[in-house]
Amino acid sequence: MKALALTAYNKPFEWLESPIPEPDTHQITVEIKAVGINPLDNMIQQGQFKQLFPYKLPMIMGNEFSGIITKVGSGVSNWKVGDEVFARPDILTLGAFAEFVNVDVADIAPKPSQLSWEQAASIPLVLLTAIQAFTEKTQISAGSKVFIQGGAGGLGSIAVQVAKYLGATVATTVSTKDVELAHDLGADIVVDYRTQRYEDYVQDFDVVLDTLGGEETLRAMHTLKAGGTLLSVVAAPDAEFAAQLGKPLLKPVMSFLSRKQRKAAKQHNVTYKFLFMHASGHQLEQFTPALNDGSIRPVVGEIFAFDDLPQAIAQLSAKRSSSGKIVAVRQ
Ligand SMILES: NC(=O)c1ccc[n+]([C@@H]2O[C@H](COP(=O)([O-])OP(=O)(O)OC[C@H]3O[C@@H](n4cnc5c(N)ncnc54)[C@H](OP(=O)(O)O)[C@@H]3O)[C@@H](O)[C@H]2O)c1
Repeated sequence: MKALALTAYNKPFEWLESPIPEPDTHQITVEIKAVGINPLDNMIQQGQFKQLFPYKLPMIMGNEFSGIITKVGSGVSNWKVGDEVFARPDILTLGAFAEFVNVDVADIAPKPSQLSWEQAASIPLVLLTAIQAFTEKTQISAGSKVFIQGGAGGLGSIAVQVAKYLGATVATTVSTKDVELAHDLGADIVVDYRTQRYEDYVQDFDVVLDTLGGEETLRAMHTLKAGGTLLSVVAAPDAEFAAQLGKPLLKPVMSFLSRKQRKAAKQHNVTYKFLFMHASGHQLEQFTPALNDGSIRPVVGEIFAFDDLPQAIAQLSAKRSSSGKIVAVRQ
């Protein structure tokens, strides 16, 4: 089969001919219909996760997909050939940028019937991130006030909708072209970050979802009320992340890396947390009704052909005019 792989860090991904994988006992094999592109694809290529996830190269890339089951492992009873599925495979296995992928059954969910292949492929990674942000790392409920940076991006466009779905009041920042989109997605307060200062509109919030990092992480702490939480998906990891990785010995290192953020949080009387999302078919399935009835809708900005995957990935790191996710579809 044809697959796009990381063959060396800091080099463009390369097309390889690879055997169609055989599923292990608790795996299924899926024929890919569409794949989603994420900033994570480029970050892996740049070696940013080299220490944490030591991939054996060449490694087939690809963080999310929709497709049809073509084979099931000997221990799999609840899935059958022909089932339509979508998933974010485990970060240690990836593999979606190929004609076929093997996935652990714990990571897959039935494809929402009302979504197209490309819509379904665009959503697993960002939907899981938003679910875990607002139900695991923080507990959002009716009346919570949530500030989401970058509400028209791949993650932000879904996070705004998930927070609204959970009953929160939502503020978000977008650039001028996306103000209308952010309102359409349900945001209550939309700040054009190119012309406005969000501090003038966002005060005493319970949670910030930081998708920007750097000085923006510290700046956004000013919008929180005492006792609030700054949850970052891009700034420094915390000790809990070491535990999530199953590497408790790294706790002091992770704590050290986030000392600046934690010190600033303490000064503001708020909590700093870091999230690195994890695969979960169960969580995807829990939100399938919301995807099917349109309460949460995928925002697909650009669609490429599968053969143009390298251009699709390059497009995400380029300055682009579209919003939401970039996907690639197999014909
Ligand atoms: N840790 C995790 O588990 C996890 C999971 C998902 C994503 N992430 C990370 O989260 C980040 C966002 O991901 P994504 O998929 O949403 O990326 P994306 O699709 O590229 O979106 C980024 C968005 O941020 C906006 N933006 C840029 N500068 C801004 C500013 N100063 N203020 C407000 N908005 C600004 C951009 O708007 P304009 O282009 O219009 O300026 C764009 O809409 C990435 O770094 C990604 O790696 C982490």
